[in-house]
Amino acid sequence: MSKSGLAADFLWGGAVAAHQLEGGWQAGGKGLSIADVMTAGANKVPRKITDGVQAGENYPNHSAIDFYHHYKEDIKLFAEMGFNCFRTSIAWTRIFPNGDEAEPNEAGLKFYDDVFAECHKYGIEPVITLSHFEMPYHLVSEYGGWRDRRVIDFFVHFAEVCFKRYRNSVKYWMTFNEINNQMDYMNDFLVATDSGLVFRNNEDAATREALMYQASHYEVVASALAVKMGHQINPDFKIGSMINFTPLYPASAKPADILVAEKMMQRRYWWSDVQAWGRYPVGMEAYFKQHGLRPDITAEDRIVLQEGTVDYIGFSYYNSMTIAADGASFKIVANPTLETSEWDWPIDPLGLRYALNWLQDRYHLPMMIVENGLGARDKVEADGSIHDPYRIDYLRAHIEQMIKAVNEDGVELWGYTPWGCIDLVSAGTGQMSKRYGFIYVDKDDEGNGILARSRKDSFYWYQKVIQTNGADL
Ligand code: BG6
Repeated sequence: MSKSGLAADFLWGGAVAAHQLEGGWQAGGKGLSIADVMTAGANKVPRKITDGVQAGENYPNHSAIDFYHHYKEDIKLFAEMGFNCFRTSIAWTRIFPNGDEAEPNEAGLKFYDDVFAECHKYGIEPVITLSHFEMPYHLVSEYGGWRDRRVIDFFVHFAEVCFKRYRNSVKYWMTFNEINNQMDYMNDFLVATDSGLVFRNNEDAATREALMYQASHYEVVASALAVKMGHQINPDFKIGSMINFTPLYPASAKPADILVAEKMMQRRYWWSDVQAWGRYPVGMEAYFKQHGLRPDITAEDRIVLQEGTVDYIGFSYYNSMTIAADGASFKIVANPTLETSEWDWPIDPLGLRYALNWLQDRYHLPMMIVENGLGARDKVEADGSIHDPYRIDYLRAHIEQMIKAVNEDGVELWGYTPWGCIDLVSAGTGQMSKRYGFIYVDKDDEGNGILARSRKDSFYWYQKVIQTNGADL
């Protein structure tokens, strides 16, 4: 045990996703993904999801920060910071360009062989998400995304190919990134990135909701099949769920606010309930019944869910949300006790400790914080230095709470991988200027820049944090 109280083999690293940093959107036979048809947006300007790639549009993920060609340099910088793990995803379309092929694309598989070998050269353990907002566009246009049961087999085939190929180079896996974002089914971006559901005809809320539950069900079945198979391929694999954890605080002590917050927590976290417990929680079964929702859930599916429960809970934590009862529904309200970022995300370090306690009590499983961080604008000084105390303050405050949860609350936590350890394309806005990194990348929102990498102040700070295993913050 070290001075901080964290285990000596605690996993310290950083997290990214293939579509947000790799670029090389057509390199090595890669196919088009849903992320490749998303234009650049901005704060409060949603990204458009176009019908295929359209001339004259700006698609920031096409070239991103070109990790595809810079991965050696970037992993070397991660090693310099002291990472012993690195979370990224495998772009599904590098392995299966359309998603429904029988045979995988060797060039894509080889790319990740090289990336993982480079990590191991420095003692960095890859932590891999199979599906992080980048499903093949062909599955979206031809099958309607996850609304089609056949997509289960395509995903499981993709998972099998990856598990077999990287049997000895990857131990930590997650199936679907932030699978629960789609709870907000009126948000075009969230349903498209999670499930490849694209609504172009103003479908009403009831239709969207029904399709979202159907797609989600197929995803949890696919996830369970993958978990079961992964354990057969290598019993040492640790395969987790990955949810976005945003605690929903009641706006007041009014019982109606407390009840609505609890009900909305049930609706927000049932995905991990199913993945951890192997069954739907009763509240959701009741909700389906009352709302006339009849997802295609077979008796066989229910057995699959039981057989493929996850080994750990991976989750992202950025902020909390506060809600109040509003008639029969609810509304999101500002929390006057919290400051917010430029992108209006509340900053709530204590919420991370709350999250760890809540998840521990609900699932009794080990956990990994696989995303956390502050998107902010950085300024490069004349001498090339980048002073980012706001990022250090945010991360320090969150790591403090994380360590308290381990030492004082006894939660079992395997690791911490803050988001966007190197600047990359923002998922929500498509911007480069919303930066999370310890490493600055010279590229702006219009795509100008020479892609040079440089160390921010936070780079040296995080290096010290890792060196002292969290004792010196
Ligand atoms: C999570 C995603 O939602 O948050 C990442 O898993 C994403 O892909 C991150 O980048 C931060 O969100 P944003 O919109 O600031 O990029």
